[in-house]
Amino acid sequence: MQRARQGGPAPDVLRVAVISGPNLDRLGTREPAIYGTATLDDVHRMVAEAARAEGAEVVCRQSNHEGDLVSWIGRAREDGFAGVVLNAGAYTHTSIALLDAIKASGVPVVEVHLSNPEAREPFRRRSRIAPACIAKVSGFGPRSYVLGLVGLVEHLRRA
Ligand code: DQA
Repeated sequence: MQRARQGGPAPDVLRVAVISGPNLDRLGTREPAIYGTATLDDVHRMVAEAARAEGAEVVCRQSNHEGDLVSWIGRAREDGFAGVVLNAGAYTHTSIALLDAIKASGVPVVEVHLSNPEAREPFRRRSRIAPACIAKVSGFGPRSYVLGLVGLVEHLRRA
């Protein structure tokens, strides 16, 4: 049943894919001094709640396999997603395949990180995927996902 709304039809609900890469399934117990104690399910709940408040919805996925991430990003548009929030984990620093997938996806992608990789080891200072992303949010723990989502939704609504 469609609810009657004052002021015209309901605005379109934006669908956003939230994609997390390798080792992020271990959040909660993985190096808590760096990544905190929230689990990935906790992060997904936070980002889903923020999406609802923004009139958007998220589908959250995680894989330890580079090819899964490449496929999900590559077909994001045909799967009905308007954009992607991506924590590529360590593939951030290595993966030309992910860079190419983002470029080919045809949807805006926001890079997010729980930690601030640029303040860590030198090998984390270079993001291979940043040149293809519209923005990056890092260092705010799970809030990085939320802030990335909110920024992406604002960007999509402006477009
Ligand atoms: C990370 C940072 C990466 O350098 C690291 O390899 C991760 C997590 C983050 O969210 O802070 O796996 O993406």
